[in-house]
Amino acid sequence: MRNIIITGGAGFIGSHVVRLFVNKYPEYNIINLDKLTYAGNLANLKDVEDKPNYKFVKMDICDFDTFYKLMQDEQIDGIIHLAAESHVDRSIKDPFTFARTNVMGTLSLLQAAKLYWESLPEKYEGKLFYHISTDEVYGALEMTNPEGINPPFMTKASSGKHHEAYGEEFFLETTKYAPHSPYSASKASSDHFVRAFHDTYGMPTIVTNCSNNYGPYQFPEKLIPLFINNIRYRKSLPVYGKGENVRDWLYVEDHARAIDTIFHNGRVAETYNIGGFNEWKNIDIIKVIIQVVDRMLGREEGEDMDLITYVTDRLGHDARYAIDSRKLQTELGWEPSLQFEEGIEKTVKWYLDNEGWLNDVTSGDYQKYYDNMYGDKTIE
Ligand code: NAD
Ligand code: DAU
Repeated sequence: MRNIIITGGAGFIGSHVVRLFVNKYPEYNIINLDKLTYAGNLANLKDVEDKPNYKFVKMDICDFDTFYKLMQDEQIDGIIHLAAESHVDRSIKDPFTFARTNVMGTLSLLQAAKLYWESLPEKYEGKLFYHISTDEVYGALEMTNPEGINPPFMTKASSGKHHEAYGEEFFLETTKYAPHSPYSASKASSDHFVRAFHDTYGMPTIVTNCSNNYGPYQFPEKLIPLFINNIRYRKSLPVYGKGENVRDWLYVEDHARAIDTIFHNGRVAETYNIGGFNEWKNIDIIKVIIQVVDRMLGREEGEDMDLITYVTDRLGHDARYAIDSRKLQTELGWEPSLQFEEGIEKTVKWYLDNEGWLNDVTSGDYQKYYDNMYGDKTIE
């Protein structure tokens, strides 16, 4: 029996983590704590909302007093912390919101957990604060080989056709932090606070840093769902700069499985990088998406290439992210389950099959869903 709070469980990655834990561990008591910002959508969890081991609590992670009371009432022994403002473009326009939620919110959770766990006879024994972070805290890698190289340690997520890494350097767990955007600066700050709570108070903590996720239930402000939706309606596809920036893509369910593995078997005070050695230049991934969407919509494959529109670059746009996840693979035996070609097919199919979800999110109707369904079950 464990009593676990998953913060940000109504968001993209969080909803996959909640689903996995609720289904796989019926003996656990899983509490999804989420403020339901624009990015939180309880429709993502319709299939588990009636399970007896699942509960939703509407709460802001910055609300220290209410969170502290929840820890006591539910006798929480594990926290998996995903709640965050997560979109880089929004952070460039509104950095304060990112500092508030990502830095102060994380600190508030840490302090409440510390006070509660230190008040117990067993103190920190059997407890864990697991913080989900991003590869963006490491800054940007250089594109030392724009044509691509083929390192020997590629994994299943690296596709059969596409083996390139665009440089010799990768982010390691020991790579020095060098965040560039307000988003990554706020995540870096929260990572430091988590480690400080371990080093200062002895709180059992783990931090993981993952690469770009893709898959179902991602808010269509992020590259892949935005572009799938735009191709559907033949709207232009805004490619920042020259489209040469490189991201390292991992299917979201593989991230959720990694979180499960690390939560149960990871070593306290460690950092694990999560990624599938699956680098793509934005423009290449965009062309693949156009081909897959066209084919699935019965259009001529590639006929929507003319929707590509090069626009002003993102400010401070990081050139290349590439995660070295060999520590996680060798120490805990995790590896990605999908090749990228399979993952992107599944993803496009999901968005096209779930037009209702996409329409509700793009129209704002999804917010009515939780207002109606959960009005009487929330804690403000
Ligand atoms: P998301 O934006 O889809 O979801 C964030 C969730 O947090 C939403 O449900 C939102 O309502 C909730 N939230 C926001 N502010 C809150 C607050 N003040 N109090 C309570 N809840 C709040 O994000 P995501 O893409 O699922 O990312 C989840 C986590 O994983 C984040 O910490 C992010 O930094 C990290 N991460 C994301 C990626 C990625 O590719 N998306 C990769 C690596 C790490
Ligand atoms: O690396 C992990 C990070 O990945 C996470 O921590 C973030 O929460 C998540 O949002 C993601 O950040 P990115 O900035 O890499 O993701 P995004 O989908 O916004 O952009 C992916 C790439 O595509 C990036 O190089 C910018 C580019 N892009 C994005 C959008 C939305 C475009 O060219 N046009 C667009 O319209």
